[in-house]
Amino acid sequence: MNKIDKAIKHLQQGGLIIVADDEDRESEGDLVGLAEYATPETINFMTKFGRGLICAPISKSLATRFHLTEMIENNTDPYRTAFTISIDHKNTSTGISAGDRAETIRQLANFNTSCDDFLRPGHIFPLIAKEGGVLERRGHTEAAVDLAKLSDGYEAAYICEILKEDGTMARLDELKKLAKKWELPLITVEDLTAYLLKDEAIK
Ligand code: 5RP
Ligand code: CA
Ligand code: ZN
Repeated sequence: MNKIDKAIKHLQQGGLIIVADDEDRESEGDLVGLAEYATPETINFMTKFGRGLICAPISKSLATRFHLTEMIENNTDPYRTAFTISIDHKNTSTGISAGDRAETIRQLANFNTSCDDFLRPGHIFPLIAKEGGVLERRGHTEAAVDLAKLSDGYEAAYICEILKEDGTMARLDELKKLAKKWELPLITVEDLTAYLLKDEAIK
């Protein structure tokens, strides 16, 4: 089984994986999980060991369904990361606990949830993926939604950047060590791109 198939299997079992983008892009590693499997434990793992910002990549069609549009019309972020206004599900308390954030994320992957079920602003940041996925934009947003699509589930995921204990970003060498320590699959956006293009080289 190649590394993308292994990563998909791990995601389908509710686990987190690490996705590293290109070293000449952000050169960052994000923990990634499928929204439907978010739990207080996986969110707590992200806050304790990832230490970045917890966001929820979603497809354009989910964004439309939940009336989530880009936070700002003129996006000046260097990578144009497509943040929408932040949200909390109405069943949460203050929205920030690991349990509350898991609930909000899971509700993005619930066919019965409607746009009025989310309070705005909140503590989860949806990100809208380009419809062409990593073949169109090589971001963690697209990687997460492509993986959700490949997993045959809802087109929603959750992600969090990995910072080192000293607060600096964990680069690829460090990410490989952390993947080993945490026993999590590590893939790159390049691996996923090759997989989608059916490149046998990653097998
Ligand atoms: C939100 C971010 C992260 O970089 C996240 O990985 C999504 O952004 P992108 O799709 O640009 O990689 O800025 O915390
Ligand atoms: Ca970023
Ligand atoms: Zn990123």
